[in-house]
Amino acid sequence: MIRHLPRLLLVVVALAASVSVAGPPAGTLRLCADPDNLPFSSATGPERGFYLDVGALVAARLGMTTDVVWWRSFYGARAVRNTLLADTCDAYVGLPAEAGYMDRRVTVSRPFLDVGYAIVAPPSLAFARLDDLKPRRLAVEFRTPAQSLLASKDGFNVSTFRSAEEAVEALGRQEVDAAFVWGPIAGYLNVTKFAGAYRIVPVAGEGLQWRIGIGVRKGDETLRRRIDEALGQLAPEIRRRAEHYGFPLAAAVDLTAVPPVSTTDAVAAGRSAFNQHCSHCHSPNAHSPEPARDLRRLRIRYGERMTAVFYEAVTLGRSAKGMPPWKEILKQEDIVRILSFLESVQSSP
Ligand code: HEC
Repeated sequence: MIRHLPRLLLVVVALAASVSVAGPPAGTLRLCADPDNLPFSSATGPERGFYLDVGALVAARLGMTTDVVWWRSFYGARAVRNTLLADTCDAYVGLPAEAGYMDRRVTVSRPFLDVGYAIVAPPSLAFARLDDLKPRRLAVEFRTPAQSLLASKDGFNVSTFRSAEEAVEALGRQEVDAAFVWGPIAGYLNVTKFAGAYRIVPVAGEGLQWRIGIGVRKGDETLRRRIDEALGQLAPEIRRRAEHYGFPLAAAVDLTAVPPVSTTDAVAAGRSAFNQHCSHCHSPNAHSPEPARDLRRLRIRYGERMTAVFYEAVTLGRSAKGMPPWKEILKQEDIVRILSFLESVQSSP
């Protein structure tokens, strides 16, 4: 578990020792950060990084100014020992808010962000289960839980890269169809290099997701409470910063739980796909009060041409009328399932 933390342990917020005693907040908030770890922190980049932003927001709430102390964070636990536990810093942005994390010596604030592994793919690549990706070429980063997960299953076509960046770049060159990598890095590259072209789906599962907070030394409960309070008030701003860096904020999806779709489930699967993609224009379950959009009338309207009209309208759209094309968005199977569902709700003539 801890092996992946180095990418998280990026910012050390060092508070002047005086802060942990009761009294008005004063002085400088020293933020210790990894000098070269965008999107979390950077000494040189055009961006200072998410953890530094969070540290600065919290400092401002506590009525303090900030200062940055740079500290390499490749070795997570060692960085914590050398800074927080050596008393050179008093708080650490980006520690896992999980029970058991160095918990004899560190106490972590409420979480301010969920981070974890995610699948990055063009929106046209639809998948409901991990298994749907078996025919695809997948990129992973070496020695990550994503790599272990795929290696533990048969039939995946996986290329391993040294870093998440390299995996996502291979996707950009279309050498792979999807990448299963650390979500924040994927999201950041997506906004900075690919103009948001990819869809990023956080994947739920053992060791794949974390909640992160700000760690302080065990015993600094007053400080931790004040940080908790600040984080609570700052939630909307922190979310905006996370969006700015492209971090995937959707809830993680369990791609192993969804059972395979059998033919008898096609109608139910089609209804659910319809309600997800089509219902905001064609009404939930296709019960549209507006005749031109009432898809229960396709049979009456088109008779045996129904399938052909449906397929053409759905794949190519009717842009002039406000019906978008779905060819690049939905998988063939989903279009077929939606048709099965619509067939099951046709009005009788
Ligand atoms: C943004 C709104 C919007 C969404 C989303 C949308 N549609 Fe439509 N759709 C329309 C409009 C508007 C029309 C009517 C076009 C017209 O008047 O010819 C239409 C027409 C259709 C038609 C042809 C109906 C006919 O009687 O000729 C079909 C079939 C259809 N949509 C299926 C779908 C399916 C399936 C989805 C989801 C995958 C979907 N639509 C999503 C707006 C939408």
